[in-house]
Amino acid sequence: MTGAIVRESHSVQDTEAIAAEIARKLMGGECIALEGDLGAGKTQFVRGLVRALDGDARSVSSPTYVLLHVYDTGRLKVFHLDAYRVQGGEDFDAIGFGELLEQNGVVIIEWASRVASQLPANTIRIHVESTGETRRNFTIADLFAT
Ligand SMILES: Nc1ncnc2c1ncn2[C@@H]1O[C@H](COP(=O)(O)OP(=O)(O)OP(=O)(O)O)[C@@H](O)[C@H]1O
Ligand SMILES: [Mg+2]
Repeated sequence: MTGAIVRESHSVQDTEAIAAEIARKLMGGECIALEGDLGAGKTQFVRGLVRALDGDARSVSSPTYVLLHVYDTGRLKVFHLDAYRVQGGEDFDAIGFGELLEQNGVVIIEWASRVASQLPANTIRIHVESTGETRRNFTIADLFAT
């Protein structure tokens, strides 16, 4: 371990730029776990990721009730999940979480700690922390730092 990547965001634009930095490194087949409180900026991060992949950023919203949104971007398919209302993982099984991981797209999950036991070992873990009205700290596990 060489430590985590830490990025400080002062605006929504900064957050999208941090997401774009991650997006550039994606090859397909990754699973990204987003942690952080309500309103921390998890969905905003996904919006930046989808924009950076040449997808339609306006179509990005928390899939709180439907559990899954699929964005067919110019580069990679993004499977956006939200585990906020998931109890025990059965819902994730029902939407075929295991199969999504095999699509060679990018699987990105809000409130991922609710399904911690179902996440692959090589999941990229991103923690978003609100440190002020427009300030956010992003801590990204160092899986890319080789
Ligand atoms: N630096 C910043 N980065 C991201 N969002 C910011 C920032 N500053 C302010 N915001 C605001 O914070 C809110 C983040 O909302 P967002 O929907 O991304 O949160 P979330 O973590 O997905 O919450 P939820 O758990 O409810 O889905 C937005 O209203 C956004 O405009
Ligand atoms: Mg959200």
